[in-house]
Amino acid sequence: MDQSQKPKTEVGQSPEKKQRTSRFPGFYKLDVWERLDKLADWYPLTTKEKWTLKNETLTAEQADVMVENVIGVFGLPLGVAVNFRINDKDYVIPMAVEETSIVAACSNLARIIRENGRLTASAPHAIMEGQVQLVNPQDPQQAAKDIMEAKERLLLLANRQDPTLVSLGGGAKDLSVRHLDTESGPMLIVHLAVDVVDAMGANAVNTMVETLGPVLGEIAKAEVVCQIISNLCDKSLVRARLEIDPACLKTKIFDGMTVAQRVVKAYHFADADPYRAATHNKGIMNGIDAVLIATGNDWRAVEAGAHAYAARTGRYRSLTKYRIEGGKLIGEIEVPIAVGVVGGVGKLHRGVEILLRLMGMPSRRELAEVVATVGLVQNLAALKALVTEGIQEGHMTLHARNVAYSAGAIGDLAIAVAEQMIKEGRIRFDRAREILKKKLSHKAETPGNGQ
Ligand code: MEV
Repeated sequence: MDQSQKPKTEVGQSPEKKQRTSRFPGFYKLDVWERLDKLADWYPLTTKEKWTLKNETLTAEQADVMVENVIGVFGLPLGVAVNFRINDKDYVIPMAVEETSIVAACSNLARIIRENGRLTASAPHAIMEGQVQLVNPQDPQQAAKDIMEAKERLLLLANRQDPTLVSLGGGAKDLSVRHLDTESGPMLIVHLAVDVVDAMGANAVNTMVETLGPVLGEIAKAEVVCQIISNLCDKSLVRARLEIDPACLKTKIFDGMTVAQRVVKAYHFADADPYRAATHNKGIMNGIDAVLIATGNDWRAVEAGAHAYAARTGRYRSLTKYRIEGGKLIGEIEVPIAVGVVGGVGKLHRGVEILLRLMGMPSRRELAEVVATVGLVQNLAALKALVTEGIQEGHMTLHARNVAYSAGAIGDLAIAVAEQMIKEGRIRFDRAREILKKKLSHKAETPGNGQ
């Protein structure tokens, strides 16, 4: 890195402790191959791996063993968020997402935070829970007591289903019973808590609860209905925190402290109003889902868990919190995140396998910390834009290019059409068609043009 590219002094980094940096100034200006080459400064990818990431992260043959009735492979843009430093460690974070500005906003704010603040995160040991639904037990109180008396035997039986998990220190660790009054009558819901180590755990947990179900039904003298993992994994709550000097949030119109205060007000709006909370949390999931998809994780499970957690008080609320304390803007997220770094699609999907290596082969806990942090940073990036210039400004360039492409322009022509629409402040399909038509006829009339 030459001197002119050197980042400003960064909080929390001692000069003598030199480590790999995820800071890639000007990365966005490179073309796709150049970016892949540049990543070699971070992680040495072979030419074949670069080619795979660029062209074929998943073949139709691989897809054919993943789901049914395969007719092809569906593409999504794959970007990397740069500049992240979490718990004093740098990360290059893959994000698979189709929406303009997400990767850029996240990378940009991560740079601002690393130069003016700090990102930290923590994830607990991964505990997933399975549920067994027991309907109309003969004597609910006695049944619950009998189940708890059989707890050790039931845990042993569950653990016999997954000796590998047990040998890694995981397995079924606890069992509890809840009483539920429903339209179908009284129910006992048995929760089995399983330490899933580095896996997402759905298979292990589902196998265990399906084994326990009939035994529990006999003990409780009840009808067994559902036996399945719960995606509200609130025993796997992940926390991330950002602390930033408000001065670095300043814009042409607002000073930094005003922006920070407006961010806090925007959070209070989301926390009080489900209509706003839905959009606020959607912005968080923009970041979370993109990392989950790129790392081969079940984003629907995390989405469901996150929204259920956001509604845990009886009102759907913000997953993040902001306050100003000691002259700093503090942002926090608390969200259940179930991810896996072993099993799942990782073995079949070449892209996921390479991208996990690019991330430094994180443990499940570490990946969960990264995912939650990206959600928090994405949220602050969105709020910063919302409370200052508005969201459309940042979307403009790529949005204009998208419109130009859909109007039929390609390559340099698309860039020229987009630039003209931005200049005119009219980014519309019909206008793109008009400009394109004009430019094409002008080109055709230009002497020496062989078209
Ligand atoms: C757009 O995908 C996400 C935002 O609407 C989030 C928000 O409003 O906080 C910008």
